[in-house]
Amino acid sequence: MVRSRYSLSGKTVFITGASSGIGEACAYAFAEEGANLVLSARRGDKLADLSRNLDSQYSNKLKIFIGELDVRDPRKVDDFISSIPSEFSPIEVLLNNAGLAVGADKLFEATIDDWERMIDTNLKGLLYVSRTVIPLMVENGRGHVINIGSIAGREPYPGGSVYCGTKHAVRAISRSLKMDLLGTNIRVSNVEPGAVETEFSLVRYKGDKEKAKGVYEGLVPLCAVDIADAVLYCATCPAHVNVAELLVLANSQASAYHTDRS
Ligand SMILES: NC(=O)c1ccc[n+]([C@@H]2O[C@H](COP(=O)([O-])OP(=O)(O)OC[C@H]3O[C@@H](n4cnc5c(N)ncnc54)[C@H](OP(=O)(O)O)[C@@H]3O)[C@@H](O)[C@H]2O)c1
Repeated sequence: MVRSRYSLSGKTVFITGASSGIGEACAYAFAEEGANLVLSARRGDKLADLSRNLDSQYSNKLKIFIGELDVRDPRKVDDFISSIPSEFSPIEVLLNNAGLAVGADKLFEATIDDWERMIDTNLKGLLYVSRTVIPLMVENGRGHVINIGSIAGREPYPGGSVYCGTKHAVRAISRSLKMDLLGTNIRVSNVEPGAVETEFSLVRYKGDKEKAKGVYEGLVPLCAVDIADAVLYCATCPAHVNVAELLVLANSQASAYHTDRS
């Protein structure tokens, strides 16, 4: 028997945090499926480069809408979604990917501003975008929300209290949301990566390249494309299948604590 696939050709995928790493890799993966793309992040220059590269790779055959968006501002989220041209309606897939870890300090020594950046982006930002887009999906009777969680949403680790807290919350939100959406056709998936080599650690260590490199030392980590594959798998399952949770680890990682660095 052959796996039947849900076609994304000509459908719209909206990605937050598309300017690098997993979000950018997902833009390429969905483009390969023939989807039209709404790409957002704070760094507009990176989005413009991505859009140019996609245009040249796909000979301008895809519709691409890019726009700067800081998901921490609910008014900007509303304005951004209102500004998406009608030719991109309806949104078929919402990929809530924008997120970050900031710092790796013990809770009792950490900086409150670091906490706020994580909570405002990973948690409140995801909620603002979801609150604005999901009603449109409900109205349309179709859609798929894919949240990027983390292994940190299953296993807390030292120095990660607030980041782990936000990703635990994302997992809980994904599960509750699916309950809220029962009776609609809308799917909800929580994709949970382990260590992926992206700009993530550079952001966490505030530009300290040595510390960032140390995270992946001796490991064969995942790359962004590995997670894009997992996201695409969720999105292309037949309409009656909902991949509720998908934990994806490098073969050299067994848990948040167990890694083979030989
Ligand atoms: N890398 C890992 O090991 C790993 C593991 C598990 C889960 N994750 C999760 O995967 C997701 C993507 O991370 P990544 O690894 O691809 O890291 P990344 O390369 O640093 O990408 C993060 C993306 O989020 C965007 N972003 C950050 N703050 C934002 C804000 N306030 N508003 C809008 N966009 C914002 C960034 O764009 P701008 O800076 O241009 O805004 C960037 O495009 C995150 O949710 C992260 O928590 C990563």
